[in-house]
Amino acid sequence: MDSIVDPKDFPASHKCTYLNAANVALMYQGAEKAIIEWEKDLAENGSINFDETAEATVFGDLHSAAARLFNARPEDIAVGSSATELISSLAWAVAPGFETNVVSTDIVFPSTLYPWLRVARHTNCEIRLAKGQNSYANPDDVIQLIDNRTAVVCVSHVEYGGGQRYDLLKMADVAHDHDALLVVDATQSAGAVPIDAPACGVDVLVSGGYKWLCGPFGAAVMYLAPHLQNELDPGLVGFRSHKDMWDLQADRLELPTTAQRFEYSTMAYGCAIGLARSIEYLVDVG
Ligand SMILES: Cc1ncc(COP(=O)(O)O)c(C=O)c1O
Repeated sequence: MDSIVDPKDFPASHKCTYLNAANVALMYQGAEKAIIEWEKDLAENGSINFDETAEATVFGDLHSAAARLFNARPEDIAVGSSATELISSLAWAVAPGFETNVVSTDIVFPSTLYPWLRVARHTNCEIRLAKGQNSYANPDDVIQLIDNRTAVVCVSHVEYGGGQRYDLLKMADVAHDHDALLVVDATQSAGAVPIDAPACGVDVLVSGGYKWLCGPFGAAVMYLAPHLQNELDPGLVGFRSHKDMWDLQADRLELPTTAQRFEYSTMAYGCAIGLARSIEYLVDVG
């Protein structure tokens, strides 16, 4: 079998045939180098090089790379530290209320669903789960749970246990017919299968970075459809949440009118820079 990438870009691949990217992938070497360089510069120079402008614009490359990956615009992309963190902030932003329901499956990865369970403890919304068997859930069983009280349909694009892939366009059509949002965890698909987020009609799509995107722990991305960018009030907020992050005043909070309203604080910024390199690499490979 011919390799579609240069094995030199994944030096550890010489050691074995690595088949565990659904857990933790081998990292693209360009990402590893970028992260180490960034951490070294920060450790040795502090804010001499990583100044206010650098911090304000630090996610720029990852916004652009993820936008290319999902066929979206940079302003449709938010960066976070993990898929779980982004889904949690989103779940509190949507906060499905009493007498509404959230539809998912009982075979989904726990982090995809727990944020909604947590919000449900607070709001008493109903959680409806299609029952899976042997790590497989019938997509029609998911669709049948959707009704006019459904606020959110939340699925993992590819299920982590059995690898089944949902037809997002079909799911989005049914969700939207009932005025529900389709929220997709693409952590097990992004980088492995093409995703055109606007074309498949998802409202929100989140992916961690350390699986099929061949990036590090510590960075994740979220696509937020334009119609939500002036609507949702993120569950997590901090100094970075204000539209001009360096205009530090604690007595008011005006959020950006882009997906970037979900970016709220400092993080392991080098990981975001590294993930940008990995995604650029994968998009170039095609
Ligand atoms: C579908 C899915 N979502 C989320 C996660 C966890 O993502 P993170 O570690 O970025 O929170 C995993 C990890 O296995 C996963 O398979």
